[in-house]
Amino acid sequence: MTELPADLRLPDVTDPQTVNWAEIPSPAFVLDETRLRRNLALISYVQEKSGAQIIVAFKGFSMWSTFPILREYGISGATASSLNEVILADEEMQGEVHAYAPAYSDEDFPEILRRSDHIVFNSLAQWERFRPQVEAARQGGRTIHAGLRVNPEYAEVETDLYNPAGPFSRLGVTRREFPDTLPEGIDGLHFHTLCEKDSDTLERTLEVLEEKFGEFLASDQVAWVNFGGGHLMTREGYDIERLIRVVRAFRERWNVHVILEPGSAFGWQTGWLVSSVLDVVHNVKDAVLLDVSVSAHMPDVLEMPYRPRILGAGDPPDDTHREADAGASGHRYIIGGTTCLAGDVVGEYVFPEPLKVGDRVVFDDMIHYTMVKTTFFNGVKHPDIGILHADGSYERVKVFGYDEFKAKLS
Ligand SMILES: Cc1ncc(COP(=O)(O)O)c(C=O)c1O
Repeated sequence: MTELPADLRLPDVTDPQTVNWAEIPSPAFVLDETRLRRNLALISYVQEKSGAQIIVAFKGFSMWSTFPILREYGISGATASSLNEVILADEEMQGEVHAYAPAYSDEDFPEILRRSDHIVFNSLAQWERFRPQVEAARQGGRTIHAGLRVNPEYAEVETDLYNPAGPFSRLGVTRREFPDTLPEGIDGLHFHTLCEKDSDTLERTLEVLEEKFGEFLASDQVAWVNFGGGHLMTREGYDIERLIRVVRAFRERWNVHVILEPGSAFGWQTGWLVSSVLDVVHNVKDAVLLDVSVSAHMPDVLEMPYRPRILGAGDPPDDTHREADAGASGHRYIIGGTTCLAGDVVGEYVFPEPLKVGDRVVFDDMIHYTMVKTTFFNGVKHPDIGILHADGSYERVKVFGYDEFKAKLS
């Protein structure tokens, strides 16, 4: 395991075993302030030592009630992937607004332009389409940084769903399609090819980027390079020193401002989805119906797919056809959600005690890419959004009701 830098001091975090889960109204996404502060201390350390500007990618983490905490750690802005996220960044983040969307519409662009400081275009055609508006704003005295997303066609992402540099990707301009000279008015480049990666992947990616796009990096026209997201610097074992080294060397080599825009790294392991048991049914095996939905509240479990950790529960022995029993291995249950979707199921888990109606079942690491992706499928009750504060108090920040459900429909 990689050692943390010696001069990096991280705050202690709340032990989930000390939390009285039964006191937290269910269902709820519960962000742990101590864990968020730990991530932020680390991100801010990287920002300071590497000289990169680190902004938060709203697509992965946009719990805006925590933005005052982010600002305490010098997080100077956000990257938004739509007009809605741009408005949220402008209204709530109180910092720089960076926009990147695979395509902007004629309808949305004027407002995106009005509220953004950096705008990254995914294609030359999009740049040409909106360039007159950008130039007009610049002539009107605004500083607008305009960038192009390039696709270095190099990625170490195993899951196709999350690989922006795979064959025929629509994300970013490849070297083949790139013009011989950098279009006038463009002052930066952007790439995003990482997903939950360590800094060795970044280092190898930069080698390819430099090989393919070095002549443009060398041009005085390029003042900044955005390394996208996927830098999971808050995961245990991530090689932070290497990240700092790689970023510093890149900045010095090309004389550019470097921006990192991770989402996951901010929300990584900062909290839980608290649910409770509504019913226990038996059909050869025991199955539990929770007051949350896998499909509506933890969609990545089905999309990716992956098996989330449940606090206090374990994996069943590998004899999947055995009936539930209360033997030495504990009590096995298929854990399912409350929608009518047959596959609204997390999987089978073993609990130390039998589950009964009202018991809490707490899913770990359910903040990044979870809260942002929920739906009201089946009209299921949307989990609250809450903060477990450093002093142990619990704040119910947002409670969803019929009004929010109805407002999504017409
Ligand atoms: C362009 C861009 N920037 C940043 C991010 C954030 O990545 P992550 O949350 O993995 O750090 C993404 C994620 O898909 C992205 O597409």
